[in-house]
Amino acid sequence: MAIERFRWWHIAEVLPLEEELFGPDKWSATMFWNELAQRHFYVVVREDDEIVGYAGLAVVDEQESWVQTIGVKREARRRGLGRELLETLLERAGKRKVLLEVAVDNHPAQKLYASYDFEPVGIRRGYYQSSNTDALVMMRDA
Ligand SMILES: CC(C)(COP(=O)(O)OP(=O)(O)OC[C@H]1O[C@@H](n2cnc3c(N)ncnc32)[C@H](O)[C@@H]1OP(=O)(O)O)[C@@H](O)C(=O)NCCC(=O)NCCS
Repeated sequence: MAIERFRWWHIAEVLPLEEELFGPDKWSATMFWNELAQRHFYVVVREDDEIVGYAGLAVVDEQESWVQTIGVKREARRRGLGRELLETLLERAGKRKVLLEVAVDNHPAQKLYASYDFEPVGIRRGYYQSSNTDALVMMRDA
C-alpha cells in the first residue's frame, strides 16, 4: 500500500472508481480538474499499482479545512485504507478544524468520522440532489 499525491494524470483512472463509489452523485473530470487547479490537497492510495482509493482536503484558511471526498474501492474496504486516507488529510489539516458533509444514511462513513472525534453540527436539506438525501455536517475541532 502506498499513498501518494493525486495528480492530473490520475483523473482518468479515478473516474470509474468515482462512478462505483458515488453513482449519480459522481464528480466529472472537470470537477476533479477544478479541485486540483485550486491546489486542494488530494491523495490516492495504491495497491499492486492500482488506485484503490482517494481523498481530498480543501484548506480554507489558518482555522478551517473541509474533507472534499474520501472513497475506497469496494473490494479493498475494511482493511484500514479509509483510516489511512483520513489520517493523511488530518495530518495536512494540522491545527485547523476539519468539517465535512456526509449523507445522513451513510453509517459506515459516519462511524469512521466519529472514531476521529468528528461530531454532528448541522444538516443540509436535500444536499444530494439525485436522491434528495440530506447531508449531515460533521466537525472535528482543532
Ligand atoms: C467510508 C469508506 C471510505 C471507509 O473505507 P474503508 O477502507 O472500508 O475504512 P476502514 O477499513 O479504514 O474502516 C475504518 C472504520 O470505518 C468504520 N466502517 C467502515 N466500513 C464500515 C461498515 N460497512 N459498517 C460499519 N462501520 C464501518 C468502522 O468504524 C471502521 O473501523 P473498524 O474496521 O476498526 O471497525 C468506504 O466505506 C467507502 O469508500 N464508502 C463509499 C464512499 C463514501 O461513502 N465515502 C464517504 C463520503 S462522505
